[in-house]
Amino acid sequence: MTTALVILAAGKGTRMNSDIPKVLHPIAQAPMLVHAMRAGAILSPERTVIVTGHGAEAVSKVAQAEDETARIVVQQEQLGTAHAVAHAREALAGFEGDAVVLYGDTPFLQPDTLKRMIAARAENDLVILGFEAADPARYGRLVMNGNTLERIVEFKDATDEERAITFCNSGLLACNTQTLFALIDAVGNDNASGEYYLTDVVEIARTRGLRVTAVACDEAQTLGVNSRTDLAVADAIFQTRARTELMELGVTLMAPETVYLAADTVIGRDTVIEPNVVFGPGVTVESGATIRAFSHLEGCHVSRGATVGPYARLRPGTELAENTRVGNFVEIKNAEIAEGAKVNHLSYIGDASVGAASNIGAGTITCNYDGVMKHKTTIGENVFVGSNTMLVAPVSLGDGAMTATGTVVTKDVEPDALAVARAKQENKPGYARKLFEMLKAKKARRDKGA
Ligand code: UD1
Ligand code: CA
Repeated sequence: MTTALVILAAGKGTRMNSDIPKVLHPIAQAPMLVHAMRAGAILSPERTVIVTGHGAEAVSKVAQAEDETARIVVQQEQLGTAHAVAHAREALAGFEGDAVVLYGDTPFLQPDTLKRMIAARAENDLVILGFEAADPARYGRLVMNGNTLERIVEFKDATDEERAITFCNSGLLACNTQTLFALIDAVGNDNASGEYYLTDVVEIARTRGLRVTAVACDEAQTLGVNSRTDLAVADAIFQTRARTELMELGVTLMAPETVYLAADTVIGRDTVIEPNVVFGPGVTVESGATIRAFSHLEGCHVSRGATVGPYARLRPGTELAENTRVGNFVEIKNAEIAEGAKVNHLSYIGDASVGAASNIGAGTITCNYDGVMKHKTTIGENVFVGSNTMLVAPVSLGDGAMTATGTVVTKDVEPDALAVARAKQENKPGYARKLFEMLKAKKARRDKGA
């Protein structure tokens, strides 16, 4: 059966106290909306419709970066969840399959839950996702009669007896698309909030003789984010899950609780991550690598057997080939480091390529920026760059070349050549001793005077 995904993301999220639309706040450095879209992607939806309102432009940019086929509709005024879903009608005109409605601020849905909802559709016209709430608070209550869901009553409209129900509405539903729109047509706003409640489709469906049921999932999956505190809690839950998954996949985390992962971090088997490592978005690490303590990685690829850190910073566009070594206080940006090459100490390598088995000495800097433009440094294979070499880009060092310590390289160096560019050293015999004596005498005179 083909499915369409409708993601509600028009709300302002007042309690976030933010200029950024709620669904764009990140969990593990990916916007909540992206988490929701990825959760829904398990259904291989034929169409995805995002209902936006507050910050529609920014929201649609993020949605389309994740899925360029996503259709964005704008709900100018937020008159309720049914009113929001109704905005997807045009985008789903003529669509014969199911619509699955979910919220953009519910990032923890598990694939299996959505599959169970779709499975339950075989026997039912409308399926709602519910959960047993530890604290039902202000959630909508599910009024069950055996396996049949009779209706959903919103907290504000509920009697004391109904408020005692702990089986609550997550907000997710699955229904034939055109049936859902027909039900929504009958939803009014005569209730305590004066809103068009999506939850009313349940009772309307029942009066029309349709079969309605609820599928249950655990509460953690339906966790909604409404405040910065919720956001931090959600991030912590995400981190715990992601670390456990990595360890199950064979990655060693020496101090798991100190490793911060991004939603898209990929790490191979038998890689060791030491304490206090931060992964920004877009990092892949192959098997058998070592990421040592206090390193920060984003937008980079680390190949098998490479060692990074301690205290290394890999910025976007960094590609480390197999068995490379990047040591302490090294920053690398937009650079390829070929197999077996080493950048072990205190260096900046930006907009560069370093050939296989080359050695970059301590304190080497690629001077890639002239204040206006960025320029490239090309270093060949088996090059030995002496300590404290400044490579003024654009510049290249041929295979097998060498630079003398302290050299400022401003011209290309041909293969196998040694580049030396520094003042010649002169030794003056006895001068040091004379200078010391002079200084000591000066100090003695001063101490006497004082
Ligand atoms: C809703 C449910 C409630 C359920 C709870 C679960 C209704 C009437 N109530 O309540 O039964 O227990 O979610 O969290 O559906 N939105 C729009 N446009 C609107 C209104 C809302 O896009 O006009 C979006 C919001 O951005 C949000 C989602 O829909 O992502 C839910 O809206 P919200 O106002 O938070 O609903 P609740 O009152 O929490
Ligand atoms: Ca809510």
